Amino acid sequence: MFKLKSIALGIIGLSLLLTLPGMFINQSEPDDYLQPEVCSECHADIYEQWNGSMHSNSHKDPVYEKLFIMASRETNSSFDAFCSKCHIPIDFLTGNIPSADNYKVSEISEKGISCDFCHTVNATNGNGGFISSPGSIKRGPLEDSNYSTFHGTTYSELHTKSEFCGMCHNVNHPFNGLILENTYTEWKEGEYNETTTCQDCHMTPGVTGYKANPGRASPGAPMRDNIYTHYFVGGNSMLPGLLGSPKHERLAKERLQAAAMVEIIRLERTNDNKTMNLTIKVTNIGAGHKIPTGLTEARLIWLEVDAKDLSGKTIFGSGRIDKDGYIDPGAVKYHTIFGDSDNKPTEKVWMAEKILMDNRIPPKGYSIENYSFDIPTDLKGPLNVDVRLNYVSASQELSDLLFGKGEIKPPVVEMASVSAKIEVTPYVPIKKTPGFTSVFLLMAILILYARIKSIK
Ligand code: HEC
Ligand code: HEC
Ligand code: HEC
Ligand code: HEC
Ligand code: HEC
Repeated sequence: MFKLKSIALGIIGLSLLLTLPGMFINQSEPDDYLQPEVCSECHADIYEQWNGSMHSNSHKDPVYEKLFIMASRETNSSFDAFCSKCHIPIDFLTGNIPSADNYKVSEISEKGISCDFCHTVNATNGNGGFISSPGSIKRGPLEDSNYSTFHGTTYSELHTKSEFCGMCHNVNHPFNGLILENTYTEWKEGEYNETTTCQDCHMTPGVTGYKANPGRASPGAPMRDNIYTHYFVGGNSMLPGLLGSPKHERLAKERLQAAAMVEIIRLERTNDNKTMNLTIKVTNIGAGHKIPTGLTEARLIWLEVDAKDLSGKTIFGSGRIDKDGYIDPGAVKYHTIFGDSDNKPTEKVWMAEKILMDNRIPPKGYSIENYSFDIPTDLKGPLNVDVRLNYVSASQELSDLLFGKGEIKPPVVEMASVSAKIEVTPYVPIKKTPGFTSVFLLMAILILYARIKSIK
């Protein structure tokens, strides 16, 4: 009876812990979590991979800082704890919540989402709900690890599953429940849910699937068939670039280039040679979730189309970016647009109440886009069509909002491209020489008359 009771109390306690905001969970101190540099003494490779990742930068990130401060000001601090949950989980758990006026965090939270947070997590209920028990036991994927003299180890099935990542990579608005980020659900509902975890693609050299990385977790540890890598690279190459990690910047570009394919599936002129019809197919070939995913009101994938004649003159263009970084408004773009209470588009997630548009491409899914344009009568063929699929981690508009107009130009990464050429006979209107028809008719009548006469 007593046992049952304490189990019941335990369950209630667990659910309370999972739902109560961190301010009330003051059971631990930031110092209970060890600095990542301590772990690097033995796990040097893993440390190097993590250091420079967006997890290590989740507090330093100037894009986050700007948006957090704006959210904090505009909502009178009512989002401070919410944002901190996932971006500085250790300070959240220890009740040290920053605000617009005091953005300071503990020394360990300056290093964002670090080793000792992830490896002491033992339960989650999503949307930034987690329990972590800092201490001497490190939780991980190894079932037979008793080689560490520094800390104890425990096998944790959670760490081997996408649910582990899903505790932060699904974000709902804290007050109205609107889905703000949905990466975990996109994976769960997609084609990879039975075969490939987040870790397979993001914690191995495989990029689009599991690929073993044989080695040792630490110099004294046994050789293993695979040691999970910790680069945690996504599509964001801008921030690693800005924050001085060329390796993560390069890996992010490579990842983007593995995600999608573009094809020209139709390039034909109409029978009268007046119009060119172009159909493009964009396929998500490599990502286990939609493309783009995550912060999709900021991330942007779009098609750039450029059709030129033999002399290099542009005959048709779409999705070009001007010198100030703005994309042609007529472009085909893949992203999400949030609407506020007046149905006006907003990039401020705290104001978001609905999704006005979401046309992102699901895992292994595709999107078909049609274009048509006039063929000029003086066209010097053949016509060359270049198509590029581009990515920016933040639109120029969002960047202007956060940093001031033109201060930062988010770098454009080309994800995929394709070209095609077509011979064209331009449409030539048949010039009717005046009087020609009448001359012809007259002749016909004359011949007819002559014939009739000869028959007679
Ligand atoms: C003195 C060396 C040393 C230090 C310091 C150290 N570790 Fe380890 N750790 C090891 C060894 C050795 C293993 C065993 C690896 C194996 O079994 O292949 C290990 C294993 C692990 C595992 C795998 C556990 C499992 O069961 O899957 C995790 C997770 C881990 N360490 C996290 C950490 C974290 C976090 C820190 C810093 C707070 C840290 N380690 C500091 C030596 C160390
Ligand atoms: C975002 C959470 C996260 C962070 C931050 C993180 N890890 Fe891990 N780590 C994991 C997960 C998840 C796995 C297991 C992946 C799997 O099994 O699919 C893992 C695996 C490991 C392992 C076992 C490796 C193996 O394959 O045998 C060690 C050791 C380890 N991590 C140490 C560290 C150290 C040291 C740091 C900091 C430099 C760190 N981790 C940061 C989530 C994290
Ligand atoms: C404690 C919450 C948390 C957990 C757990 C977590 N993440 Fe993250 N992750 C974040 C946050 C926050 C960012 C963004 C930081 C930023 O950009 O400022 C991020 C960024 C990333 C990025 C880079 C995104 C980009 O745009 O390039 C990848 C990839 C990623 N996480 C993968 C994973 C994987 C895989 C796991 C599970 C092994 C995981 N994360 C677990 C919170 C978390
Ligand atoms: C089949 C491989 C694969 C799986 C499985 C996978 N990803 Fe990805 N992920 C990618 C590729 C490729 C990209 C680059 C394309 C992009 O950025 O949209 C990416 C990008 C990302 C980004 C950056 C998004 C952006 O557009 O900036 C995040 C965050 C992320 N993944 C998290 C996750 C999480 C969390 C899971 C598990 C729920 C997961 N991924 C599962 C391959 C995968
Ligand atoms: C439930 C977890 C969670 C919460 C709560 C959360 N985020 Fe995030 N945030 C993430 C994850 C995961 C990513 C990475 C997604 C990606 O890279 O596309 C991210 C990425 C970001 C980025 C992108 C950074 C970059 O460099 O591009 C910004 C900015 C951001 N979050 C701001 C906020 C703000 C402001 C709040 C509070 C209103 C907040 N987040 C609340 C999980 C969370």
